[in-house]
Amino acid sequence: MKVMIIGSGSREHALAWKVRQSPLVQEVFVAPGNGGTAQEEGISNIAIDAKDTDALVSFAQDSRIDLTLVGPEDPLVQGLVDRFRARGLTVFGPSQQAAQLEGSKNFAKAFMKRHGIPTAEYASFTQLDSAESWIREKGTPLVIKADGLAAGKGVVIARTEDEALGAVRDMLAGDVFGKAGSRVIIEEFLEGKEVSFIVMTDGKEVLPLASSQDHKARYDGGQGPNTGGMGACSPASALTPSLHEHIMQQIILPTVRGMEAEGHAYSGFLYVGLMIDSDSVPHVLEYNCRLGDPETQPILVRLESDIFELCLAGATGKLGGHECQWDPRPAVGVVMAAEGYPGAVKRGDPITGLDAVEDAKVFLGGTTLRDDQLVTNGGRVLCVTASGDSLQHAREKAYKAVGKIHWKGCCFRSDIGAANQQDN
Ligand code: AMP
Ligand code: GLY
Repeated sequence: MKVMIIGSGSREHALAWKVRQSPLVQEVFVAPGNGGTAQEEGISNIAIDAKDTDALVSFAQDSRIDLTLVGPEDPLVQGLVDRFRARGLTVFGPSQQAAQLEGSKNFAKAFMKRHGIPTAEYASFTQLDSAESWIREKGTPLVIKADGLAAGKGVVIARTEDEALGAVRDMLAGDVFGKAGSRVIIEEFLEGKEVSFIVMTDGKEVLPLASSQDHKARYDGGQGPNTGGMGACSPASALTPSLHEHIMQQIILPTVRGMEAEGHAYSGFLYVGLMIDSDSVPHVLEYNCRLGDPETQPILVRLESDIFELCLAGATGKLGGHECQWDPRPAVGVVMAAEGYPGAVKRGDPITGLDAVEDAKVFLGGTTLRDDQLVTNGGRVLCVTASGDSLQHAREKAYKAVGKIHWKGCCFRSDIGAANQQDN
C-alpha cells in the first residue's frame, strides 16, 4: 500500500514514521515533509504545498495512493477531503462542513449549545460597539477569539478591560486576522487543568486515543505567550478512568452523534481541548479537526497497534471492532524551538548532535536539508520523544537527549511532564 501524509511538522514526521512501520505499507510520501521525513527509510518528500489541493489530488491519482492522511487544519477546512472523495480517493479526515468544528469557533460554540455539550458561556460579535459594551458590562478576565483560523494566534486571554477592548478592536476594526477576525467570540475565562482528548471516528464508531497533556505557554511554569505547544506527555495525569468515561458520554459521543444528526457526519481524528476544573468537571475549550502537535508524538510512541490499519478502517466506515493497544509506559515529548519563537525566528542554523541521541526518538519539524546538512527552517524545530517506566523516567530520557542537540539560539522548556506541573 502507498500512503500520502500532508504537512511538514514534527507531528507529520511521527505519523509517517508510525505508518511506515505497518507491514501493509510499502511507501510513504509526505507533502511537503521536512528534513526529518527526508531522511527516513521508505519515506519520500514530495514538493507540493499542503494547501495546493489541485496538485495533491493529481499526485494521489497519478501515483495511485491508497490512503491519504492530513496533518494540519487548513487543507481540511478548505475542503481537501471533499475534493479527494469526489475523485474516488481514500482519505481519512473530515469534510469541509464537518471541519467547521475547528474552522469556525462560532459554529463550534453554537453547535455545543444546541447539543448541551459543556463549554464556557459566550457571545458572538461582528460589531465593535456591541462587543465593547458587552466587555464593559461583564468585566474581565475574558477570552477573546477570532472566529476563523488564525494559525493558533487568534486567542487572547484578557486579564484587564483594556486588554479585552484592545483585542476586539484589533480583530474587528484593525483587521489583524483578516476575514478570520471579522467575527469574534468572547467567552468566560475557565480555570483548571488542560487535557487533550483525541479520538478517531468513522462518523459512527469512536476509538479514543491515549490521553495527553500539552504545555502551551512558552516558558516554564506556564509563563509567557501562548504557542502551538512546547511539549506534551501521555497519559494526562488529570484523566482518571471515571473522567474518561464522563468525557466520552457527555462530550465525545454527543459531538459525533450531533454532527451526524445535522448532516455533517464527522470522520477523521477529532481533538477536543478540555479544561478540567477543581471539581473534575470538564468543559470544551476548542475542537480541532486533526491530530495535535506535539501531542501526537508521545501518543504514537505509545501506540502498539497498526495506525495504517486503523486509519484505513476509519476512512472506509469500518472502525467498529477495532481497538488500540497501548504501551502502558508514559511518554514525554519536549519541543526544541528556534530563538524568538513564537514570534519571528531566524532560519538556516545548522543542527548538531542528533547522532549522539540514544534511547529517544527525535521527530523533526521546522528543518530542511541544505547540502546534506540539517538546518533550522521554522519555529518549532523538533520534538524529542521518549518513554520510560514512569513519567519521571521518560522525562529524564527525553531531557538527556535534548542536552545532546544544539543549534545557535535553540530553546526549550525544562518542565515538560514534570510531576508537579499544574500550569500549562
Ligand atoms: P483555543 O484555540 O480556543 O484552544 O485557545 C487556545 C488556548 O487558550 C487554550 O489551549 C487555552 O490555554 C486558552 N483558552 C481558550 N479558551 C479559554 C477559556 N475559555 N478559558 C481559559 N483559557 C482558555
Ligand atoms: N498542541 C495543540 C494543537 O495541536 O492544537
